[in-house]
Amino acid sequence: MCGLKPVIPRLSGATQVVAVSAAMRELLLRTARFAASDAPVAVMGETGTGKEVVARMLHLNSARSGGPFIAVNVAALPAELLETELFGHGKGAFTGAISARRGLFETAHEGTLFLDEIGEMPPALQAKLLRVLQDGELRRVGEDQAFAVDVRVVSATHRDLARRVAEGLFREDLYYRLKVLTLDVPPLRERVEDVLPLAEHFLLREKTHATQFSARARERLLAYAWPGNVRELENVVKHGAALAVGDQVDEPDLPDDLRCRRPGVTRLRGAPEASGPLATLAEIEREHILRVLDQCGGSQSEAARVLGIARNTLWRKLRSIRLSA
Ligand SMILES: Nc1ncnc2c1ncn2[C@@H]1O[C@H](COP(=O)(O)OP(=O)(O)OP(=O)(O)O)[C@@H](O)[C@H]1O
Ligand SMILES: [Mg+2]
Repeated sequence: MCGLKPVIPRLSGATQVVAVSAAMRELLLRTARFAASDAPVAVMGETGTGKEVVARMLHLNSARSGGPFIAVNVAALPAELLETELFGHGKGAFTGAISARRGLFETAHEGTLFLDEIGEMPPALQAKLLRVLQDGELRRVGEDQAFAVDVRVVSATHRDLARRVAEGLFREDLYYRLKVLTLDVPPLRERVEDVLPLAEHFLLREKTHATQFSARARERLLAYAWPGNVRELENVVKHGAALAVGDQVDEPDLPDDLRCRRPGVTRLRGAPEASGPLATLAEIEREHILRVLDQCGGSQSEAARVLGIARNTLWRKLRSIRLSA
């Protein structure tokens, strides 16, 4: 399958990364170039786009590939726990600290520390992280003595970090330290060429009797806007593989969200072009209702669910549409 070939010859481990679209190929090329440097990298992108995949790729292709790759989700831990997890603690640093413990920074020595959801890092820890990045020195919680660590920090966020800085929630000096190099992972809706190769990749991984998608299923996969990006696609494929009867995943095997799309991300089909004549609200509502109904295969109850209105409200609206037609 084309998506599984090592698309970027200089990038080892890339066989597991599907990158057919020009945007993803370009991103991997940039990743390969950044791998040669030791500077911090910030990976930006919506949820589920593959930020951790890119971070691993960066590590695998760097001189640190023989060292550890340690991933920490900053948002998953309360502040105090996060501090000791990252920086370790000395003996007696707090009640219950019966012995000293290494933190993840130390564990990642000569490797890469991947700080996911960096935007959620509490202010006190932001200051501490900045010190490690500036001096390459670390102090365990409750200890005075500092020691050197050699860690490349790769951070990720699905948030607009610049905005968090403007709002005073993220330190500006740390922001500039972390984003010396940046990698932007595009949302899946902006790289539709990757959808089917990714879906086939995930389907083969399921190891069920289903090995392909029917034409109708493929159409649905391509038409969907993927708000949850690659992770959502992965789950959709799991769902399809579990329900498939023969060797094909067919349209009815896909989750309802795909079979009856929630329009919204893309411009409504049938709605006037921004530069065209302006439509009335009633016209737009009529077009939208008819489109959703069509997407739902004519099912009024399903269409009402997607539109977020009661079934009898939809029925009334449809009656007036028909009367005015
Ligand atoms: N290009 C790709 N090729 C193959 N698998 C991918 C690709 N991109 C993402 N995946 C898979 O999709 C899932 C989500 O990827 P990942 O965890 O890297 O996303 P993320 O951007 O870090 O998500 P979050 O914002 O939720 O932390 C993972 O199971 C990953 O293996
Ligand atoms: Mg992640």
